Amino acid sequence: MSDRATLSYAGQDYELPVIVGTEDERAVSIEKLRADSGLITLDDGYANTGSCISNITFIDGERGILRYRGYPIEELAEHSTFIETAYLIIFGELPTEKQLGEFRNLLAEHMFIHEAMRHHFEGFPPNAPPMAILSAMINTLGCFEPVLTQPEQDNRFIEAAARLISKVRTVAAAAYKKSIGDPIIYPRFDLGYTANFLHMMFCKPNKVCRPDAAVERALDQIFILHADHEQNCSTSTVRMVGSSQANLYASVAAGVCALWGPLHGGANVAVINMLESIRASGESIPDFVARIKDKKAHARLMGFGHRVYKNYDPRARLIKQSCDQVLSRQGIQDPLLEIALQLEEVALKDPYFIERKLYPNVDFYSGIIMRAAGVPLDMFTVLFAIGRLPGWIANWREVHLNPNARIYRPRQVYNGPTQRQYVPIAERGG
Ligand code: CMC
Repeated sequence: MSDRATLSYAGQDYELPVIVGTEDERAVSIEKLRADSGLITLDDGYANTGSCISNITFIDGERGILRYRGYPIEELAEHSTFIETAYLIIFGELPTEKQLGEFRNLLAEHMFIHEAMRHHFEGFPPNAPPMAILSAMINTLGCFEPVLTQPEQDNRFIEAAARLISKVRTVAAAAYKKSIGDPIIYPRFDLGYTANFLHMMFCKPNKVCRPDAAVERALDQIFILHADHEQNCSTSTVRMVGSSQANLYASVAAGVCALWGPLHGGANVAVINMLESIRASGESIPDFVARIKDKKAHARLMGFGHRVYKNYDPRARLIKQSCDQVLSRQGIQDPLLEIALQLEEVALKDPYFIERKLYPNVDFYSGIIMRAAGVPLDMFTVLFAIGRLPGWIANWREVHLNPNARIYRPRQVYNGPTQRQYVPIAERGG
């Protein structure tokens, strides 16, 4: 098979190398195209652009496959924990018992935030969105932590990764406590990662509570399912910022902002708002779906569709199963789950969704589990961010370890006014 493609333009042929990945994905490398031909490629929204070669996560969107470092998401969701999966994603291999123990010890050692940082929470107005607080506080964290400049040394980087993963959870829970005017709760040494998060979210100084084991497992699994997803909008942002050699905190803070939008991580909030509005209005599911299909309405079925998956998102399948288990175990009958199930059923039979290969994505059912766990709506995307953190860290590190790394700097086709002369304000009319 040829390892070169040929582009013919203006009577000339240009040979372009074809790069082949370990899963036989093929990409035409155009790195030298402009130098040779004067042409650039244009791909608004990067729908068909590979921005890097990565060893972290593999997705086959046509077959609905997702693997972290080669391990199928289904196996990790069933057998692994978020912390073990985080280690795998960042360092490339499942940890031995000793390595995992050391990583857990580092997480425990760094679970507190600097006392001075607690005052920073005072500066936010009541009802400040927790995603804004999270992003700002991650950057603030960078001011209190030694700047991470040596990702190539695993023995140092493991501490950097553990610090960030551990503290982000503490910051996230503190942001919630501040938003409801409750005292911030300290983490506990005797609790694991996710149990500690639930403890800091829901316990009070005068109310000792033990997180429910089933809820803890369901949230841990949600974190695993969100832990990486190759070159999505927020991860690409982290890589973009990191490519300028910005530090890990600054790069991850930018990733949080990218995740916030309703077309990305914010979709888990948008799904619940959509289901709530259907419930409140009493609109029938077929009528709602008809409205979505009407292009003039500019509406979308939130939690449906994906740039890469043209098949059922494997994460959505796992979250749907977990949703059933958590709700039945807790004895909860959530009317929003009923509406979601009906929406899925109607949409999956509808030619509009079939033709466009639109299936439920990770955000369609995750909010229902978070509701059952008592997580408030404006914290949903924060939980997504906690889950995605290992992926951001791994991708930031990959950028920094690449010996051929260059600053990410796409080109554009300029389509604005051609050169014109400056007009003094007095001569502009109006
Ligand atoms: N509801 C109705 N129509 C849709 C939807 C949807 N959710 N998603 C895509 N379409 C239509 C779209 O209108 C277009 O139709 P046409 O060809 O007639 O113009 C066609 O499907 C292709 O859509 P696109 O906008 O080119 O697709 P994209 O790859 O640019 O967008 C997406 C991907 C995820 C942003 C989009 O599917 C969407 O807006 N979904 C709803 C928001 C959502 O659930 N986001 C979470 C994504 S998964 C987790 C994450 O990344 O954070």
